[in-house]
Amino acid sequence: MTTPSAGAAGSFVLPDATAYASAVEQARAAAAAYYEGGTSVLDDDAYDRLVRAITAYEGEHPDEVLADSPSGKVAGGAVVGDVPHTVPMLSLDNVFSDEEFTTWAASLERRIGRAVASWNVQPKLDGLAIAARYEDGRLARLVTRGDGTAGEDVSHAIGTIEGLPTALSRPVTLEVRGEVLMTHAQFEYANTVRTEHGGAPFANPRNAAAGTLRAKDRAYTVPMTFFCYGLLPLPGTDQDLADEFEAAAHGAVMDRAAGLGINTPASTAVPGTVVASVDEVHARVKEIAALRAELPFGIDGIVVKADLAADQQQAGSGSRAPRWAVAFKLPAVEKITKLLAVEWNVGRTGIVAPRAVLQPVDIDGSTVTFATLHNPADITRRDLRLGDHVMVYKAGDIIPRIEAPVAHLRTGEETAIVFPAECPQCGSGIDTSEQRWRCERGRNCHLVAALAYAAGRDQLDIEGLGHSRVVQLVDAGLVESLPDLFDRLTRDQLLGLERMGETSTDNLLAALDRARRQPLSRVLCALGVRGTGRSMSRRIARHFATMDAIRAADAEAMQQVEGIGVEKAPVIVAELAELAGQIDRLAAAGLSMTEPGATPPAAPAEDADTPEDAAATGPLAGMKVVVTGAMTGPLESLSRNQMNELVERAGGKSSGSVSKNTSLVVAGEGAGAKRAKAEALGVRLMTPDEFAELVSDLLG
Ligand code: IVH
Repeated sequence: MTTPSAGAAGSFVLPDATAYASAVEQARAAAAAYYEGGTSVLDDDAYDRLVRAITAYEGEHPDEVLADSPSGKVAGGAVVGDVPHTVPMLSLDNVFSDEEFTTWAASLERRIGRAVASWNVQPKLDGLAIAARYEDGRLARLVTRGDGTAGEDVSHAIGTIEGLPTALSRPVTLEVRGEVLMTHAQFEYANTVRTEHGGAPFANPRNAAAGTLRAKDRAYTVPMTFFCYGLLPLPGTDQDLADEFEAAAHGAVMDRAAGLGINTPASTAVPGTVVASVDEVHARVKEIAALRAELPFGIDGIVVKADLAADQQQAGSGSRAPRWAVAFKLPAVEKITKLLAVEWNVGRTGIVAPRAVLQPVDIDGSTVTFATLHNPADITRRDLRLGDHVMVYKAGDIIPRIEAPVAHLRTGEETAIVFPAECPQCGSGIDTSEQRWRCERGRNCHLVAALAYAAGRDQLDIEGLGHSRVVQLVDAGLVESLPDLFDRLTRDQLLGLERMGETSTDNLLAALDRARRQPLSRVLCALGVRGTGRSMSRRIARHFATMDAIRAADAEAMQQVEGIGVEKAPVIVAELAELAGQIDRLAAAGLSMTEPGATPPAAPAEDADTPEDAAATGPLAGMKVVVTGAMTGPLESLSRNQMNELVERAGGKSSGSVSKNTSLVVAGEGAGAKRAKAEALGVRLMTPDEFAELVSDLLG
């Protein structure tokens, strides 16, 4: 078979008729698999590129177009199904850029001979289309799209789809159309249950929804979610209602659906919105795209529709797709690649964590080589094997994750992932009693990592105590725990080390002395309490104000700190108890055990202002602030952690991600995605200089 050759911008050029024919066959097989909920070897991105190459070839060779080309017919052709649709279930044409959308909109306006009155912009839900027929308000039949003219009866799934009630709020007869999908949480649950029952995992939420929808007589049920995008009359529909559907704007139809108790995107962070101009469409597309990574379900684009019935009717539909709507496709956030290895790394607290090593794959502009695997149970639950093809998901700033192995691509050569029997760092036993495995030596296992972390710039900031110096101290047996740095290590011992002259020694001792004056939040962070990092340590320190108050807190009191829930609180309390000896020694060695500017909580469980509220004075009082990009001007030397400390001292709350609740984004040089998102959401932006001006009283 002739393989397509790579052309510009990741697209394919089909050199000849043979390549064209094989591309058509590949696309046809993939489309069939896509709509049947099964076994495509192409991810969406590869499929789109293939179809574009086919379309380009057909543009140049119109006389060679094959009958089963995916470019010219209702997509998803050869699917079982014998329930005729009253009105064909069409597909959508795609655009991939603002320019393509503008061109498409102009051609629609030319066709109808006037400007489109208003546009309805909504998420393109990544699931599968379904028609739900209600008779007198009761859900009577569920039909898949099939080939668009007839689909498969999947009424057995009635009652398992959230948002598609078995009874409407009024006894009406009508057809509801929309998308069935699995949220990320539903997908995780579905694969857990499925693998527990000995089934192969689904590769992604879309496949899972398709497979689940079509499966009959399963021993278990897994929930799915429905989002409506259309209402149609059925033969028994009341004439007034049918007239209403005929005349109503799309937005009004969606409101009507929601009023009947059917789920629509209005219940999500990305509701459908009506806008007046093409420019506003572009802006709304950007907003939805910016929110994509945080949505609890997948979207693969944005659907833009002429909102008014009159505009839709005037435009009409082709055999494959309506002319009044288009899908603005977003870059794929899922790709198939290979799981090459699993690394087991021991962190500074002794947690033995697996990490997937992947064959590098480009996802949405970045090369992904590693993905998180949370814990060993995660591997078992996902039935992952070495050599598996895996579906990798990466959107926005999130850490890439493996959704599932692509089970049908297994060759039989895959091998089991071997779990370590002993700690890969020190060879001790591993405590496997919790989901997260931990070296039996706990935080003492990876002493070098723990000490290097404690000495780091965002913790005790001990200049001269870099990784190699820590290794030297540990290898020489001079330091066995954090307090040893402060109450055991002597000048003579340091002088006895290689590459340690008088100057380096005195500099290091001076740096250790300066560390004694670091605020409590940094001391706490340096201790490496499991379940806390820099920002959590700051929150705890600001909440309790003194180490004594922190140590006196029980789990309930710990939960008063923002971001600490029922699960985390007892872990932190237990960790602090485990660290008691070290904390005592650090205090005795003169390290600061108070947080400047914070006041300890008054009596527990008061309804009055929480300490955070009381402390919230200053130029950023009550504001949620995100810092991104490189700082310049007076802030140039500040690390991200120091910037966050500054925000909090000024009464604000620092956060790592931009949302509609963000009050301010400080965008330095090279700020990328977060700045774009702030712009899209209309969040206030400041340069580092403007911000420095705002908090100038706090800059020393
Ligand atoms: S409108 C006649 N709206 O995308 C217009 N479709 O690629 C038909 N989809 O077949 C669809 N979200 O399964 C519409 N908000 C949305 C959608 C949506 C997802 C699906 C639908 C359609 C496919 C086309």
